[in-house]
Amino acid sequence: MIAETQTPTEWSQEAIAHCVSSVVRSRRAVRAFKPQPLRREIVEEILKDAAAAPSGANIQPWRVYVVSGGVKDELTEALVAASRAGTAPAPTHFPEPLPDVFRARLLDFGGRYYGSLGIDRGDTEARTRQTERNYSFFGAPVGLIFSIDRRLRPHSWIDLGLFAQNVMIAAKARGIDTCPQVAFAPFHAQIAAHLQMPPEEITAFGMSMGYGDFEAPVNQASMPRERMHDFARLLGFPA
Ligand SMILES: Cc1cc2nc3c(=O)[nH]c(=O)nc-3n(C[C@H](O)[C@H](O)[C@H](O)COP(=O)(O)O)c2cc1C
Repeated sequence: MIAETQTPTEWSQEAIAHCVSSVVRSRRAVRAFKPQPLRREIVEEILKDAAAAPSGANIQPWRVYVVSGGVKDELTEALVAASRAGTAPAPTHFPEPLPDVFRARLLDFGGRYYGSLGIDRGDTEARTRQTERNYSFFGAPVGLIFSIDRRLRPHSWIDLGLFAQNVMIAAKARGIDTCPQVAFAPFHAQIAAHLQMPPEEITAFGMSMGYGDFEAPVNQASMPRERMHDFARLLGFPA
């Protein structure tokens, strides 16, 4: 069980809000890291914070495997080999056809991401090489694989997402960067074998974690958000 904590009373509510907003808003998907290692104790602190996430009926369905050093390198090797052999099932995380509104954003994302690396839309070889970098956790010292019991329903996957968001925010609050990665999901067979997952578990996604290299061109891309009034409807408030 995690210890109960309280908001530090010596801080004003305003200072707390400012801190939380600045951490949440400064988090971004980082895809190039400094070689600087991450201490195990810091990773453990981040995971303890993450476990404060809510979950339906408090079932806490999250599982996470945290890899570094030789274990991470061997996993990377297996995934790169599987990717090159073309043995993994095709990714299915987006429906086909993707509704127009989302396809437009996906294309915008691709332009910004590959544009930051000078990779042309039609250069499939360079795109494939960049996709492959997912499996080496973009050079981060620590990689995480998030899994969940496959018997659970989509509702419980929400809990896993909330847990993962806490990981990213708890990391960012300590000056540590992350990239969530669905790219691992099609490689469940290789990952499960390497990490000796029990058969009821399924790989949901992975995550890179380390100190971001903000000189790297790939980390120059910034991803815009829709305006608040375009995704939220506020009803019943006085004018
Ligand atoms: C569930 C999920 C899966 C993602 N999968 C990948 C991935 O496989 N590879 C990758 O480079 N980025 C991945 N991302 C990062 C997104 O591309 C990124 O969050 C998005 O473009 C917004 O950019 P920002 O996080 O920098 O604000 C993923 C993000 C989420 C939330």
